[in-house]
Amino acid sequence: MTDKALCAVVVERAYAKINLSLDVLGIRPDGYHDLRSVMQTISLHDTLTFQLGTSYITDGDAHPSDFALIDKAIAATCEAAGFEGHISYDIDKRIPVAAGLGGGSADAVAAIRGTCRLIAATRDHGDSEGGMVDLGLDLHAIAESLGSDVPYFLTGGTALVEGRGERVTPLDHAEEKRFVLVGTDLPVSTAAVFQELGDADWGDGHATDRVLDALKEGRVIFGGNDLTAAALRRFPGIREAFGVFGTGEPSDSIAMSGSGGTIVGCYETESEAEEAVATARKRMRWAITGESRRRDEPAFKG
Ligand code: C5P
Repeated sequence: MTDKALCAVVVERAYAKINLSLDVLGIRPDGYHDLRSVMQTISLHDTLTFQLGTSYITDGDAHPSDFALIDKAIAATCEAAGFEGHISYDIDKRIPVAAGLGGGSADAVAAIRGTCRLIAATRDHGDSEGGMVDLGLDLHAIAESLGSDVPYFLTGGTALVEGRGERVTPLDHAEEKRFVLVGTDLPVSTAAVFQELGDADWGDGHATDRVLDALKEGRVIFGGNDLTAAALRRFPGIREAFGVFGTGEPSDSIAMSGSGGTIVGCYETESEAEEAVATARKRMRWAITGESRRRDEPAFKG
């Protein structure tokens, strides 16, 4: 290994997602649910710094278990590549945890990318300046082993996600929108929301069809989220976040993301979004703005 590799530090951004739609089609023999969803990457991100070494340095405010998936992603990638060194990381955590924004999964994919880049450096493969280095690994299999929505983050941008979450079809990029994300501090367990689902909650895929039809016409809407009623029953505090927006009910421009509890409002202009976020901050523990992000945008701009 060269001295250059020993000193290598790689920085990766992990971008959050929101769900423009989420249909729950039914339960599968493996206990998971068949889903249909259009996901959209947004500008809100964590920043992870990876280097060769043994000590783990993590964000002071967060609980170590928040990062268990990063540890697993590093270990799975090292194992697949036959790499026996240790990789440490530091994280600047901005994406709220257990909030339906895929932060843990986005971090896991950033860890796969960062680990590949470090391994490539030890093998003098050069560096891809933030892209995915091709070590010939089955990245989809690694991602799928880490969690249902992890494969989406290998693709990012606007994408149709189906099955358990493993079938990801990239879509043309949606028109850029401003989003306002609002939440409580209440962590929402994805498993608990899925457990709460009853027959009446299941959909037929039409929420995603609505979004796909709108996208074809160049419009961005929220098509519906079949987890909303179950999440509100199990975690009634989420209703407070809905209440920040207009009618307080889901609509084409207001929706819960994933299994909640983040509620997202969609706006045309930055000034509309700034006004909405200022109102929300008076009432809620946190409110943030974000905008759509394309899969082909460079990780670091400017
Ligand atoms: O796969 P992951 O660990 O991210 O999923 C978290 C929980 O969400 C699972 O334990 C399961 O209860 C639920 N889930 C599901 N069907 C999916 C994805 C997740 O039932 N397609």
